[in-house]
Amino acid sequence: MDAYLLDWANLLLRWLHVITAIAWVGSSFYFVWLDNHLIKPKSPDLLEKGVDGALWAVHGGGFYNPQKYMMAPRKIHTELHWFYWESYSTWLSGFGLFTVLYLWNAGTFLVDKSIFEWTPFAAGAAALGFLAGFWLIYDGICRTLGQRENGDTVVGVAVALVVVAASWAACQLFAGRAAFLLVGAMIATAMSANVFFWIIPGQRTVVADMMAGRPADPIHGKRGKQRSVHNTYFTLPVLVAMLSNHYGWLYQGRWNWLVLVVMMVAGALIRHFFVARHKAHVKGVQPPWGYAAAGTAAILALVVALAPKPTAAVAADAPVPTRAEVKAVIDQRCVLCHNAQVQQKNVSLHTPELIKQHALAIYQQATVTKLMPLNNATQITDAERALLKRWYEAGAP
Ligand code: HEC
Repeated sequence: MDAYLLDWANLLLRWLHVITAIAWVGSSFYFVWLDNHLIKPKSPDLLEKGVDGALWAVHGGGFYNPQKYMMAPRKIHTELHWFYWESYSTWLSGFGLFTVLYLWNAGTFLVDKSIFEWTPFAAGAAALGFLAGFWLIYDGICRTLGQRENGDTVVGVAVALVVVAASWAACQLFAGRAAFLLVGAMIATAMSANVFFWIIPGQRTVVADMMAGRPADPIHGKRGKQRSVHNTYFTLPVLVAMLSNHYGWLYQGRWNWLVLVVMMVAGALIRHFFVARHKAHVKGVQPPWGYAAAGTAAILALVVALAPKPTAAVAADAPVPTRAEVKAVIDQRCVLCHNAQVQQKNVSLHTPELIKQHALAIYQQATVTKLMPLNNATQITDAERALLKRWYEAGAP
């Protein structure tokens, strides 16, 4: 029953998390697009009002004409809309999901004893340390290096190095699946913290100055912009880290930390292509295809590097594994977590009938995706995986 309710919490939080993330990323992509497509108006009345950029768009049967003011406008006549709940609710639902899935079952999902042997509690505490630690380091880099002349490039390089180091460290400490997710969650936490600690407070100060008739200090706008540009480049890397946990071959190998880094770099390059493309469009020049090509090439290189090694050929007349042989493997490698009492994901495999009933799922989990046994806790061998594969492909007799 506990596992059943936990699964419900998992489903509902995941649903919420995907919805809020779509709302956050969607509005953030929209504003980046908007900002990059604005053109300086020529009409005197707009310039007189302080409008620095405007554009026309058509959507859902209506015409829209957003205008951007360089400094705060002199007066705002109607309600001022803010954008922050998209970000906060994404972080809250994500953290909830991380708690239900990884912290609650830290012994199963965070700890992989073949990688690093420690208690579930220590692993959970270290995972939380990654989330807070990355924010403190990243924020420190922006506060110090970000003030310098060529600050943007220096900050970019420093933050990238910290992410690489964190990916490496996470993969030395946690089960691969958890390590990838944790690196994504760590960057996503910094994204939300950027909104909470810098972007929104800066905007509040500017609005308060405007209301009081004081000139606003442009530093708030600059700082907010710096963090919001970082958030744009973080988006694609975070999303691939979040989705990676469905793909065992991505996070299980010996060089998994490098695989994660390459995927995230590819995401950032592709995002850069889109951002630069918007600007190129306004200027009427060619978009910088090189970035998109570099990102795609990085992914293709991984496709080749991670290709499964061909398994030793089995003679065509090799006998089909018997039911007893299959049951022996399942008893030894799976039943620990899939029996009458413990039924992970509602799957139990302790009788021949159940094995037959779940034949396809066994084949997929143990031989195709190799997600099972979880973290290979029961040390299944390649020969045993091959045996399950031959059995299923012969019709699971
Ligand atoms: C150490 C415990 C453990 C062992 C050993 C184990 N599993 Fe699992 N299994 C789990 C957990 C935990 C889940 C739920 C995974 C999740 O929520 O992503 C699961 C889920 C599954 C699922 C359902 C997958 C889905 O997403 O619907 C199947 C099928 C499965 N296991 C088959 C096997 C097979 C076959 C073996 C043996 C080769 C095996 N398991 C060994 C813990 C284990």
